[in-house]
Amino acid sequence: MMHAAAEVLERPQVTDVRAYIAQQQNKSLLRFITCGSVDDGKSTLIGRLLYDTKLVFEDQLAALHHDSLRHGTNGRELDLALLVDGLEAEREQGITIDVAYRFFSTARRKFIVADTPGHAQYTRNMATGASTADLAVVLVNAKAGLLQQTRRHTIIASLLGIRHIVLAVNKIDLVDFDQNVFEGIREAYEAFAEGLGFATIQAIPMSAKFGDNVIKRSASMDWYGGPTLIEHLESVEIEEPARSQPFRFPVQYVNRPNADFRGFAGTIAAGSVRVGDEVLIPNPRAAARVSRIVTCDGNLEEATRGQAVTLVLDREVDVSRGTILSSPERKPHVADQLTAQVIWFHEEPLAEGRIFLLRTETDQVSAKVTRLDHRIDINTYQPVEAKALEMNEVGACEFSLQAPITFDAFADNKATGSFILVDRMTNATVGAGMFLKPLRRAANIQWQKLDVNKAARAEQKQQKPVILWFTGLSGSGKSTIANLLERKLHASGQHTYILDGDNVRHGLNRDLGFSPEDRIENIRRVAEVAKLMADAGLIVLVSLISPYRAERAMARQLADTDEFVEIFVDTPLEECIARDPKGLYARALKAEIRNFTGIDAPYEAPETPDVHLKTMGRTPEDLVAELENWLREHGYC
Ligand code: ADX
Repeated sequence: MMHAAAEVLERPQVTDVRAYIAQQQNKSLLRFITCGSVDDGKSTLIGRLLYDTKLVFEDQLAALHHDSLRHGTNGRELDLALLVDGLEAEREQGITIDVAYRFFSTARRKFIVADTPGHAQYTRNMATGASTADLAVVLVNAKAGLLQQTRRHTIIASLLGIRHIVLAVNKIDLVDFDQNVFEGIREAYEAFAEGLGFATIQAIPMSAKFGDNVIKRSASMDWYGGPTLIEHLESVEIEEPARSQPFRFPVQYVNRPNADFRGFAGTIAAGSVRVGDEVLIPNPRAAARVSRIVTCDGNLEEATRGQAVTLVLDREVDVSRGTILSSPERKPHVADQLTAQVIWFHEEPLAEGRIFLLRTETDQVSAKVTRLDHRIDINTYQPVEAKALEMNEVGACEFSLQAPITFDAFADNKATGSFILVDRMTNATVGAGMFLKPLRRAANIQWQKLDVNKAARAEQKQQKPVILWFTGLSGSGKSTIANLLERKLHASGQHTYILDGDNVRHGLNRDLGFSPEDRIENIRRVAEVAKLMADAGLIVLVSLISPYRAERAMARQLADTDEFVEIFVDTPLEECIARDPKGLYARALKAEIRNFTGIDAPYEAPETPDVHLKTMGRTPEDLVAELENWLREHGYC
């Protein structure tokens, strides 16, 4: 959702649209973000900037853009269009934007400020706003000093590749414009931010409310000789990514209007390309030469970063949407195992073993967090051991992907080096990530081909291997039903095995408790063992609470097609509490046991189980008969 523009205060009259656009086009653009909470005076500062610069507002910009298109100022509108498109692209990445972008300009520069609201989802919004920013204005309330938040935002800014910081020590009027307060905050901040890789840190004492040192120099702080905020924003030198960066061209679509033309359309993410250059197709590996660079204004000899072009290659190669055409000398990585930094946004912590959709600008793939390497301590910026990442925390993870993807380290290229993590069930963006490096660990472990295979083993047993996965609350009747079914299958000569939650916790999973991480690992191990048993040709009955949808989906994914049946043993919580076969609910309700499913830990009921057994008012025999029928009808057992 894009917010409406700020309240309109005063609008400059733009009469000559062409001249205005031309003038705008020659100015450099600074994208920045403001970080701070409501109390730090963030909104006031932005309001002050907008008001005192008598800027052009978003909506007026939109009108301008519209006009310029209508008047057909050939090519001239490009720059403004790019501004708008940039925002569009962020929206397309699937991030729900709760960030207001405001555009304004002065005689020397034009600016886009991402105003990120400071409530609960702050980190997510900040990461969204910061992903394209050159500079961050970190607001500190002079009266309150540096806060946890200040440190967190600074670390995130650093992780997102922001190289310039303005430390805005605001509300300085509340401490009587005291130089000592300012210097104290500045020194503490600089000590903290050292080592975070910022190129410039400019501390400015200001009062956004009264306008001191925002646009106008303060009359109350003779002791301050540095720039005002706007002077600094206008003059800070932002290093343009070098033209010599390796060429990266994520293909947005394959343009094939007829049999004679096949071009690859997209925007150059890094470096440049000339007609005749060799380009690499990283995966599957191939190479070709650029024979034409096509644009709507005619063909080009050369194109560079930011330009939208269609490339025609000199031979047929396997290129599709999402392929990153690259320079052959400095290749991107192609890997299915990798490490990355993650900023976690979601209330539910990130735990090892979880599977997400990892979405880059051009690709998406199912990705499992195989290891949480560390969490970053917000106070010291030191890595510390962690089992999970809580909301707003930052850490490094190892991922195992279902298929290889093409990427760069974030430090080398922001565009091809970043990704988001999406929850596969809810489609919510739950984290932002920055690639670190590929891992090649598993490359020398190969799958050992064996002669006696699953088919042979199943044939010998004269049965179809399958995993019957019973999920439901503790006391819902999973084990009773599984037990009864196994007896009947066994009696009819079939080869079976039950993996029961309580039982595996005596041996294989003795080391695991009931924290979310431990449950995920419990389910993972049982799913792997069930898979092996199915491979041995058995009918495997799994009786496990398995409270998370994501892990049940993972277990299904592990199994071979058609060899996984999810059976929801659906007994209402009240009934489970009333039955309480092991007396555990009574203890959980007295808080003697923690993390008890249904009481103070979640149970995510299956939305579309293969078999839905509603147990109320029915006998186990009756339910097993229903299940047997289903299995027979579907060709099992
Ligand atoms: S799961 O959540 O990790 O899938 P699992 O099925 O292995 O759970 O184990 C559940 C059994 O452990 C329950 O039937 C119950 O007997 C016992 N148990 C002990 N503590 C808990 C708890 N905190 N939450 C759920 N079950 C518990």
